[in-house]
Amino acid sequence: MSDKKRVSRRQFLNYTLTGVGGFMAAGMLAPMVRFAIDPVLQKQEGGDMKSVVSVDEITNEPTRVEWTIDQVDAWYESEVQKTAWVYKDENGDIVALSPICTHLGCTVDWGSNEEYPNQFYCPCHGGRYTKDGVNVPGTPPTAPLPMYKHEVKDGMLYLGDAQSRKGA
Ligand code: FES
Repeated sequence: MSDKKRVSRRQFLNYTLTGVGGFMAAGMLAPMVRFAIDPVLQKQEGGDMKSVVSVDEITNEPTRVEWTIDQVDAWYESEVQKTAWVYKDENGDIVALSPICTHLGCTVDWGSNEEYPNQFYCPCHGGRYTKDGVNVPGTPPTAPLPMYKHEVKDGMLYLGDAQSRKGA
């Protein structure tokens, strides 16, 4: 006598219908799932450079410049205000610093503290940074201010993403 189990006609029909049904359901659901999560799968751009100020207006004194970018966060689109401290260093090179304090994220100001007129000052916990954005040791921030990627085109300064720097 054979040990092989025979598949009944009913079982065969069940297996076949389950397989075909599952295949058809997957075919219908896959495009829907893809459509639902599509914004999440799209590559974040973020690398766009924005024209923010004429190079002629940039001096050796850090100046606050503001601009807006369109931000897409999955399905939500919004306009976001950005800010930078911009100046020319002693070699004439442009420096563009983020104003976001690396301690807890308050906004730093240039020369706003009378005791440290040539430093960036954070009013939240007394954080300080030298003109090149490097954190002053002994104050709360442990890293320099992030620096914006920048390029000059047709006499205008374009800024991109701010990039973190290593701590002092
Ligand atoms: S947030 Fe700037 S020193 Fe704390």
